[in-house]
Amino acid sequence: MLIKIAKASDVKSSEITPKSLFDGRRNFLKTAAIAGVGFAAGSIAPPSFAMTGHGKQIDGIQPSKWTQESLGEALTDYPAVTTYNNFYEFGTGKQDPSSYATDFKPKPWSVVIDGEVDNPGTYSYEDLVSPHQLEDRVYRFRCVEAWSMVIPWVGVPLADMIKRFGPKNDARYVAFETLNDPERMPGQRSRVLDWPYREGLRMDEAMNPLSLMAVGIYGEELPSQNGAPIRLVTPWKYGFKSIKSIVRITLTKEQPATSWNMAGPGEYGFYSNVNPSKSHPRWSQAKERRIGEFLKRPTLPFNGYGEEVAALYDGMDLNEFY
Ligand code: MTE
Repeated sequence: MLIKIAKASDVKSSEITPKSLFDGRRNFLKTAAIAGVGFAAGSIAPPSFAMTGHGKQIDGIQPSKWTQESLGEALTDYPAVTTYNNFYEFGTGKQDPSSYATDFKPKPWSVVIDGEVDNPGTYSYEDLVSPHQLEDRVYRFRCVEAWSMVIPWVGVPLADMIKRFGPKNDARYVAFETLNDPERMPGQRSRVLDWPYREGLRMDEAMNPLSLMAVGIYGEELPSQNGAPIRLVTPWKYGFKSIKSIVRITLTKEQPATSWNMAGPGEYGFYSNVNPSKSHPRWSQAKERRIGEFLKRPTLPFNGYGEEVAALYDGMDLNEFY
């Protein structure tokens, strides 16, 4: 089980890995890139350690304290987390988001809250995210493409955010939308998906303590390619549920439409729980390649978070509700 949670204020400065370690790693990666080595495809196994000092500090919080030693599992290193991305608003290649999101200015930012809530409105980022609520959490992240990472996130529990909106009794689902602005997100000039990118959760999934609205990684602000300034993380579901750069949250009575289900209903369901026994029609989900490792490892049901979430699906056939 890997759920490491800390309030950012718990961090002791002695636990923060020196920036020199990161710089050493960056030099290693530069050499790897020059040599044409594909680290992101997991074809080599880079050393792993906590790294900070490359992004923008989040006001009021310390850099992430997690290390391989304290976790018992290696963190995926920062360069891989920030250059091997899926964010179709900036292109469909894994390197496109880090190449084309460099000019994207995530702030100022606001999020429209509407639907079945007592307190609808347009909330500024600063209204939504107060520094004292921020938590530092390490989660496994499993992409439907059968690769995975281990990432230290900073964020606010989604349940805390939703409670502030005053959910009405008949709110049964939460729908999310990404910014739709082809000027700022050039990948939206192509119709590769039906924009805006949409995702949804059942209300009890959204209120589960694992669901996080992330605003940072490695104790620092989210880089644009990772979904700045605010994105969802649901670690027991495939990565595509983790919608980025959210501008709208709507509480609904009916199950909302979701982008990948609209694009390929036979391939991507609404639930999208990590399930090694339910193959994608075009590939198996039984194993995954942890980015930075050479050999594949078995995929765990609910990505290893079954103790926390399996009860949400009691009585449901998860091969039917995939
Ligand atoms: N959110 C938006 N708006 N657009 C996207 O293309 N891709 C999803 C998800 N969220 C995507 C998105 C997919 S397929 C994955 S695997 C994760 O983001 C990748 O997150 P990462 O780039 O931080 O690893």
